[in-house]
Amino acid sequence: MKKIGILTSGGDAPGMNAAINAITWAGAKAGVEIRGYQEGYNGLIDNDYRLLEPYKTSHHANLGGTLLGSSRSERFMEPEIREKMVERLRKEGVEGLVVIGGDGSYRGAQALTRLGFPTVAIPGTIDNDIPLTELTLGFKTAISNVIDAIDKIATASASHSFVFVVEVMGRLAGDIALWTGTAAFADAIIATKEDYDLEAIHEKIQFSKAQHKRYQLIVLAEGVASADEFKEEMDAKFGYELRKLALGHIQRGGNPSVDDRILGKLFGERAFEYLHNDEGPGCALGIKENKVSEMDIEEVLGSKNEINRPYQ
Ligand code: F6P
Repeated sequence: MKKIGILTSGGDAPGMNAAINAITWAGAKAGVEIRGYQEGYNGLIDNDYRLLEPYKTSHHANLGGTLLGSSRSERFMEPEIREKMVERLRKEGVEGLVVIGGDGSYRGAQALTRLGFPTVAIPGTIDNDIPLTELTLGFKTAISNVIDAIDKIATASASHSFVFVVEVMGRLAGDIALWTGTAAFADAIIATKEDYDLEAIHEKIQFSKAQHKRYQLIVLAEGVASADEFKEEMDAKFGYELRKLALGHIQRGGNPSVDDRILGKLFGERAFEYLHNDEGPGCALGIKENKVSEMDIEEVLGSKNEINRPYQ
């Protein structure tokens, strides 16, 4: 292969730049042109790209966000647009693509693979919600961001004896809630719909108060309920005056953790190698038993996502 494209799509995830940098360096070593498509699949449709070079990408490798920009492209849903685009890529001699993103981005990569265009999907999302991989790029940084925020909330809460609910991201997955709630010794963790048992949560809060803990912390996954909804129900039912905070995009922010830098580098290098060596029709990368592994994207998207528990 002489030309390979990269794009980042969906919500940005810390570690995306590390992956882009790894691919750029691998391309430079092998004499392969690396095209960075801007703003996700929109850049691929509009042929909006810039050539990536190691001296430029190196200065982004340790930064969060994505130097390519990202979007959730509506236009890419159109089969005709996709077909035309693949035709154009082939004409221009682009022979493979690396897509870094979450569930929606994976569906795009699947569509391209089905059109016979070799595409490697790298799981880049803070949500940790891609089936069959133990870890996604960005998750470790996000949980560390959440813990930083919870530590700050804890000092105020302890001073004022607040009962505090913190809503965390994760789309439909409860991994962020489970890991951070566990790490923060939360009094209640609502990571799945089954955990949304108001009586049981009330009991846990009362037990914690009976131990004279100065404050009570509840960590809530956004996919189960919002902090607003939860507060409203708890206050009405049990007479609390819950304090609440939806952490929002602070969770995706800042520089990637050591784990996410390493993961980005390894995913990037493997994605390049797979395409450059013409190893197959396309694949999804993931972590299986602590190793970077290739998976069939059809199998990944056909599988149910399971919550990944923090160590067994
Ligand atoms: O997929 C990453 C994520 O941060 C989810 O956790 C969240 O539900 C969603 O993106 C927020 O999307 P946006 O950044 O478009 O508001």
